Amino acid sequence: MHAIVGYLEAATDYLLLELFENERHLHTDREERIHDLTAVNKQLICNFAHEIKNPLGSIRGAVQLLEFELGARERDELREYTQVIIKESDRLQTLVDRLLESHRHPHIVGDVNIHEVCERVRAVILAEFPRGLTIERDYDVSVPDLRGDKEQLIQALLNIVRNAAKALKEHISQGDAKIELRTRIVRKVTIGKKLHKLALDLLTTDNGPGIPSEIRDRIFFPLVSGREDGSGLGLTLAQSFVHQHDGLIEVESRPGCTEFVILLPFGS
Ligand SMILES: Nc1ncnc2c1ncn2[C@@H]1O[C@H](COP(=O)(O)OP(=O)(O)OP(=O)(O)O)[C@@H](O)[C@H]1O
Ligand SMILES: [Mg+2]
Repeated sequence: MHAIVGYLEAATDYLLLELFENERHLHTDREERIHDLTAVNKQLICNFAHEIKNPLGSIRGAVQLLEFELGARERDELREYTQVIIKESDRLQTLVDRLLESHRHPHIVGDVNIHEVCERVRAVILAEFPRGLTIERDYDVSVPDLRGDKEQLIQALLNIVRNAAKALKEHISQGDAKIELRTRIVRKVTIGKKLHKLALDLLTTDNGPGIPSEIRDRIFFPLVSGREDGSGLGLTLAQSFVHQHDGLIEVESRPGCTEFVILLPFGS
């Protein structure tokens, strides 16, 4: 239990004592930690990416010059090596560009209908995974518009739903892969120390194998991936986009059920 003591304007002789279950308190602490960590992460990523970008450009430029300077015979012999440097530099460049993505895009704010966001993501994923995957929806149609950047919110949800679809590989081949998108309004939510009267709760559930336990605590960190072909940036970017909307992404996962919640406040 924890308690909050307040007073009532209408009855100044009395104190108002509110008692809360500790679980909610702990939950809020954890949310705060994630929130703070996201801000630190973002700064770190940004600085790091900038530091890599310039020398990387020089390395690529220099190796191209080197290739040019080599005589025809040496060029054929050594091309294999110079090409490795060029290809690997390009791969790193793509990675760095993605790391800087969330900072480069202007934050375009407008009224966003969250169900349009969900429908767009659903259509994209169903086009990518045309067979064996069902995406169900459970929308609360009374959810009001959010103020925000629609493209960023689409990207955030897309990264979460695409991860779910990729984790469902086996179920897709069996034809029983399922993702559900659910929207609800929640009242009185604390996100990063701030209490919001109303927030959107956008839940993505999948029936896949769950997040591998060895990376479960670190999935929002950059470059943490459980897949061979993964670069480990999808959730870092998603968290960063949601963070720019004063929101938060949370996760619960066990075999057979993984839930990602995007919490987004409606104003303050
Ligand atoms: N719904 C899910 N079910 C199981 N594992 C998941 C799920 N969502 C995320 N993960 C795990 O979290 C890891 C990190 O996800 P993230 O999107 O950050 O990176 P990635 O998908 O590996 O690479 P990228 O998105 O940059 O291509 C994934 O590699 C996967 O192992
Ligand atoms: Mg991903």
